Amino acid sequence: MASRQIAIFGAGRMGSALIDGWLRGRSRPQICVIDPQPSDLIKAQADEDALALNPAPRPADVVVVAVKPQIFETVATEMADWIGPETLVVSIMAGIRIKMLRELLGTDHIVRAMPNTPGAIGWGVSVICAPDTGRKKDVTKAKRLLKPLGHVEGPVPETQMSAVTGVSGSGPAYLFLLVEALAGAAEAEGLSPKFSAMLARETIIGAAQLLYETGEDPGRLRKNVTSKGGTTEAALDILLRGDGMPSLLREAVRAAASRERALSSGK
Ligand SMILES: NC(=O)c1ccc[n+]([C@@H]2O[C@H](COP(=O)([O-])OP(=O)(O)OC[C@H]3O[C@@H](n4cnc5c(N)ncnc54)[C@H](OP(=O)(O)O)[C@@H]3O)[C@@H](O)[C@H]2O)c1
Repeated sequence: MASRQIAIFGAGRMGSALIDGWLRGRSRPQICVIDPQPSDLIKAQADEDALALNPAPRPADVVVVAVKPQIFETVATEMADWIGPETLVVSIMAGIRIKMLRELLGTDHIVRAMPNTPGAIGWGVSVICAPDTGRKKDVTKAKRLLKPLGHVEGPVPETQMSAVTGVSGSGPAYLFLLVEALAGAAEAEGLSPKFSAMLARETIIGAAQLLYETGEDPGRLRKNVTSKGGTTEAALDILLRGDGMPSLLREAVRAAASRERALSSGK
């Protein structure tokens, strides 16, 4: 594993999160980054020899596709020299189906993965799917690739990837919005912006940590802080009403999943 070479196309938000996850992991792979306009962070990592930036192409063990789905068709032509007969291609692009990857990249050694940005600190969750005709060793290799980023689930049927994208791929954004909204609500109740931001942030981090460390069911933890006729109950009566949080989240995840399906048809 020490000599494993990963070539990653696209070092934007998610690509950088993957790179950070690999650099933090124990078995450091050789990382080649292909990005025409790399960020200052990527340039600094290249200066420190943590990765190679835009080197000459040669077949890699794994090629990771982390560009926007909209430009994949163009980028696919630049990938040919990186893909040898044994190269595994792992695509993290939302909405690009295995069939299209196969057609444009001319290989059967393909795994699709949907990671998320907490992978940068080893707390991500990645879900993978592979072609029915794919090799078992490709799935094993993809799981090993994603392991330093956190949980790896799958392979799941490709039809589930739209929902997965809407839940775990986009999910961190929902939680960040919750922190922002809670801080906004605190300000509306007269607390200072700084105090509000701190309270919201620490509350969400602490609650997530409690969920993790106790391993308790979230519904049980919620009921534990909800006494009859109390303050939490008054708030939850609002959040749980017909058009409240569960209904909004259902709508949001459905919109993300629909967008994923639309991307797959080139929209
Ligand atoms: N963000 C997430 O949380 C998340 C989660 C799961 C999956 N994904 C998937 O990850 C992919 C990337 O998303 P992102 O949010 O990281 O987007 P992003 O920040 O825009 O990153 C895409 C990167 O690709 C670069 N790029 C453009 N043309 C290229 C080329 N010809 N060769 C190599 N690199 C090129 C872009 O450079 P420029 O900025 O200069 O154009 C940019 O750095 C998407 O397909 C998305 O579906 C994202």
